[in-house]
Amino acid sequence: MDLLIKGGKVVTAKSTFKADVAVTNGKISAIGTNLKPEAGTEVVDAKGKLVLPGAIDGHTHMAMPFGGTISTDDYFTGTRAAACGGTTTIINFETQPVGVKMSKFLKEKLELAESQGPAVDYSIHMGVGDVTTQEMLDDMAKVVDMGVTSFKVFMVYDFGVDDGQFYATLCKAKEIGALVGVHAENKNVNDYLVKKYLSEKKISPWYHYMSKNEAVAGEADERAINLAKMAGAPLYIVHLDNAQGVAAVAKARAEGYPIFAETCPQYLYFTKEVYKDGRPEFKLRPQDFVCSPPMKGKESKDALWDGIRNGVISTLSTDHCPFLKKEKDWGKKTKDGKKGNFTTIPNGCAGVENMYPFILSEANKGKITFNKAVEIAATNQAKLFGMDYCKGAIEVGLDADIVVYDPKKRVVINNKKNQHGALDHTVWEGVECKGYPCAVFSHGKLVFDGKDFVGKQGAGSFVKQKKVHHKGPSF
Ligand code: URP
Ligand code: ZN
Ligand code: ZN
Repeated sequence: MDLLIKGGKVVTAKSTFKADVAVTNGKISAIGTNLKPEAGTEVVDAKGKLVLPGAIDGHTHMAMPFGGTISTDDYFTGTRAAACGGTTTIINFETQPVGVKMSKFLKEKLELAESQGPAVDYSIHMGVGDVTTQEMLDDMAKVVDMGVTSFKVFMVYDFGVDDGQFYATLCKAKEIGALVGVHAENKNVNDYLVKKYLSEKKISPWYHYMSKNEAVAGEADERAINLAKMAGAPLYIVHLDNAQGVAAVAKARAEGYPIFAETCPQYLYFTKEVYKDGRPEFKLRPQDFVCSPPMKGKESKDALWDGIRNGVISTLSTDHCPFLKKEKDWGKKTKDGKKGNFTTIPNGCAGVENMYPFILSEANKGKITFNKAVEIAATNQAKLFGMDYCKGAIEVGLDADIVVYDPKKRVVINNKKNQHGALDHTVWEGVECKGYPCAVFSHGKLVFDGKDFVGKQGAGSFVKQKKVHHKGPSF
């Protein structure tokens, strides 16, 4: 036995109980009361603390070329930040360029990830950028064999799919044991509104929200679900942000369809008002909040919380996609010195370090149970993406990715003082967390000591996803 976490309360998706947790060779080797350390076992006193599975952030964009630049965190700095917030696995999006086979592209991206040296484990979702030929579609099976069974299609952006390509991707995924995720926004209406606002000289970040409003997202959520029903395939709606979409997911799940949804902390905490004023008390401007999809109104925020509580929403992830303040300023003056507007701001915000502390803090305040927080941030992610053979729970035989959480610790997020990514600001500045991780272990090795990153660059490795055949809304 290498490590013994003694006297804490173990929280799983289903129950909470007092137990010691033993770790041997990086795996959880025993869970029980009064476990005795062996000679040389490191003992961690967890009295008064919760013992949780490390979170899985199923939606990050590290080192991603986007919006004329590359997202600020790479596989190392992003996973270092993740580790310091109790997230011990990330699933990063890599989007296939037009004309390049996904399997070839995946090989290159796995090499890139290894060269950057992730601090904790990572997996990959394959972003679909070109399924215009049968050859490209058939190549998805190779990607599955390489350990990536999750794909994401985009209904917006230049590289997005049309409904026919989306349908074909769903059919192929069903055949090969994969899951399709979707970024659902109505591209044609979005494009029309962008043109209209720009022609009216309405160029501020508020019009980013206006052109990607509740109805633009809600219609696409409904259409995506209809396409999945037509294909008889499971579907995962990423970054769900609006009440209409929540209702559509609830209805499909009540009918027995394997439709799953993810939301993100930013949609549970902020509203569209940030695009008017920002958060000036923390020197955050409206452009710092520009992400796709944008934050919505309070009605949607409330519907998302209800969706978490009643099981309509299965997972919580961040959509971590950081850009520097000077890049966020491209909405005023572009990179090439031209007059900017809301479409020239790189889309995305940081959050990978904040997801688990945020949702656990909300649980600590009574908004949801700790079990629910663990379920959506860890356990369901592992089940959904075929990683439950090694991740997502405190269970004998699984990787010892463990968070010791102090419900009494208070942390006010301060980018300079207590955050560990590469970005020069965070939209979470000044947010107070009631409770915080005091120790985080990856494969039984300490990576966060409650203050600093103490892990190693390159310690993380690629986690293969098993094939998935989700038949109904079982979680
Ligand atoms: O604003 C965001 N989220 N940028 C990343 C791309 C996406 O659609 O997830
Ligand atoms: Zn997206
Ligand atoms: Zn994203």
